Amino acid sequence: MCENCSKSDLTLLNDVLKEFASVRGSLITILQKAQEIYGYLPVDVIYYLAEKTGNTPAKVMGVATFYTQFRLTPVGKNLIMLCKGTACHVNGADAVEKAICDYLEIKDGETSADGLFSLKTVACLGCCSLSPVMMINEDTYGSLTPQKAVEILTEIKAREEA
Ligand code: FES
Repeated sequence: MCENCSKSDLTLLNDVLKEFASVRGSLITILQKAQEIYGYLPVDVIYYLAEKTGNTPAKVMGVATFYTQFRLTPVGKNLIMLCKGTACHVNGADAVEKAICDYLEIKDGETSADGLFSLKTVACLGCCSLSPVMMINEDTYGSLTPQKAVEILTEIKAREEA
């Protein structure tokens, strides 16, 4: 059986479905609520919501993949949002990304094997004067170099493992 199949507790969706299943145009709201519950949108949840809302799984999957707010894989404990907007790009975001990817052995959009970090590159985070910038959960780190980024991750990792 695939990793994401038939393992979610679908009863957690009861209240959401009771409130929204028969409301026209509420698919995005339902998916948002489902993501709040599970942290992402597992495949079995997508199929279940399709069945309960009278949509095809392809339609629900189409909506889930179209909007960047939705995640189809579980996210690590620390979500790294690395800015690749213009200012950050010009100031070396690509090298920072490469260092992060090499250190965590992941690519953009993936989660490290220990479940501690997920990486998502994003457009401007709104603090270009600090470029290149990344946010890890609620914290902002600016003026990054590849080495500084790895040091920050090493520190968080040490804290998590302590
Ligand atoms: S371009 Fe990176 S914060 Fe604006």
